[in-house]
Amino acid sequence: MGILEKMRLDGKKTFITGGARGIGKSIAIAFAECGADIAIVDLDYDEAQRTAEELKDMGVHSFAVKTDVTCPAGVDAMAQAIVKEFGTIDVAVCNAGICVNTPAHEMTYDEWKKVIDVNLTGVFLTAQTAGKVMIKNKKGSIINIASMSGHVVNTPQPQCAYNASKAGVIMLTKSMSVEWAPYNVRVNCISPGYIGTELIKTSDLLKPLIEKWTEISPLKRIGTPEELQAIAVYLAGDASSFTNGSDFVIDGAYTCI
Ligand code: NAI
Repeated sequence: MGILEKMRLDGKKTFITGGARGIGKSIAIAFAECGADIAIVDLDYDEAQRTAEELKDMGVHSFAVKTDVTCPAGVDAMAQAIVKEFGTIDVAVCNAGICVNTPAHEMTYDEWKKVIDVNLTGVFLTAQTAGKVMIKNKKGSIINIASMSGHVVNTPQPQCAYNASKAGVIMLTKSMSVEWAPYNVRVNCISPGYIGTELIKTSDLLKPLIEKWTEISPLKRIGTPEELQAIAVYLAGDASSFTNGSDFVIDGAYTCI
């Protein structure tokens, strides 16, 4: 099989958490271009439905599932709904995430817990539920979305819970990759640098900082969600069959300086 063929995802049954918008939606569009069927999992059901309709217009099977990734029972119900609709799960993208910008000494317990619940526990629960199906199938690919903030402390915005949660996602990814390798289930993560999505653009604190990050960045700009599509497609398909437990920092060399 040639390399371009190995990058195709025809008929692969996939789900993407936080897939309604931003990075998740961009990966969903790339998967659809490569022929995958995609369940859009999100708290925001209306937006998830709109995204699923766009994917259907591209000729693939898609539907929306309203799920809070922090809720174990909800995540189980999500997996059941996807298996009922698609028959199985081949690829999972655990992407849903939030950020809270409060200095560590002022952060409330609830703020801390919310970020850890969504960003780390949510990835654990959704990867675990996908892993259970994939272990039975003896094949599958799980892609967790971490962040460059799992490697470095971004400034000047205070985000200790976010940074800790993303470092946790990287180690969770490595742990699952080793445990599930005997079942031919691969687990990798992507650590993006600053990407111009609603997460950044709708935050009163982060929006004004885009200019500063642009100045610091070796490429003199932040990234776009489309610039994460190729790595996600690679990890989802057979082209990455020997790639397991890896973390791909896609940040335009931001963390190299
Ligand atoms: P976004 O805010 O544009 O989209 C996040 C999506 O997740 C939304 O549709 C939201 O409804 C959904 N979501 C939030 N909490 C949820 C929950 N409890 N259950 C289910 N869905 C939930 O964010 P963006 O920028 O697309 O980020 C996606 C991922 O990429 C996050 O994990 C984020 O931490 C990570 N990331 C983003 C970067 C950026 O610069 N935008 C940089 C590095 C990592």
